[in-house]
Amino acid sequence: MQPEEQTITLDGQKIPFQPGQTIMDAALAAKIYIPHLCYHPEFKPHGSCRLCTVMVNGRYESACTMPAAAGQEILNNTKELNENRRALTQMLFVEGNHICPGCPKTGNCQLQAVAYYVGMLSSHYQHFYPYRDLDPSHPDYVIDFNRCILCELCVRASRDVDKKNIFAISGRGIKAHLIINSPSGKLEDTDFAVGDKAAFVCPVGAILRKRTRYTTPIGERLYDQQSIRIVGDSQQLHAGATKYGRK
Ligand code: SF4
Ligand code: FES
Repeated sequence: MQPEEQTITLDGQKIPFQPGQTIMDAALAAKIYIPHLCYHPEFKPHGSCRLCTVMVNGRYESACTMPAAAGQEILNNTKELNENRRALTQMLFVEGNHICPGCPKTGNCQLQAVAYYVGMLSSHYQHFYPYRDLDPSHPDYVIDFNRCILCELCVRASRDVDKKNIFAISGRGIKAHLIINSPSGKLEDTDFAVGDKAAFVCPVGAILRKRTRYTTPIGERLYDQQSIRIVGDSQQLHAGATKYGRK
């Protein structure tokens, strides 16, 4: 006899989950989009951006860290939750240098795509206009620290997949910032390479491949073609994964 399938209820829809899955894992497996920025299915959840906050049995929880449990009643795509997500997204925009028309990641940027998804029409808050040095020292990559949203995806990718530990976050609170683990603090003094996982996971325009800017015409970029609700993050699309419902 087959064991009975365990389910959670997400926006009124019953979806199955496997033991050990989080709400985010179960939702993605069921092709239901929960907005996220610091989550990546290949890494341990970090739970920092709070964009994936859902309501679980009346309590706010991060879908990427909350284990799925039988009988949970979860709200995800509600006006209130999406308004909170819009405010969080606006805060990320003003904290960094996210001037989309001037950013090489435009059209392929997860932050920009999430902003469209949650209906962000303006920054709303006052811009910080940070002025942080760029690191163009590496022959193939430039780091624009002004666009880092501290998601730690590059940190986890470099440490856990590439086994190089090239990136880290230093400081806490508003002083938190991305650093390069090398004697000079420059990327050129690391063994960062084009094939590294960490070279692909940045959801914004902070880790940029040189000589590839603006090569995809407007209309053919990732999020020109599909909503983030369908394709999820660009890493998944480039990997040809079907997890997010891509055909
Ligand atoms: S550089 Fe990109 S991937 Fe790394 S922490 Fe910043 S935003 Fe995240
Ligand atoms: S995706 Fe869950 S906290 Fe960032």
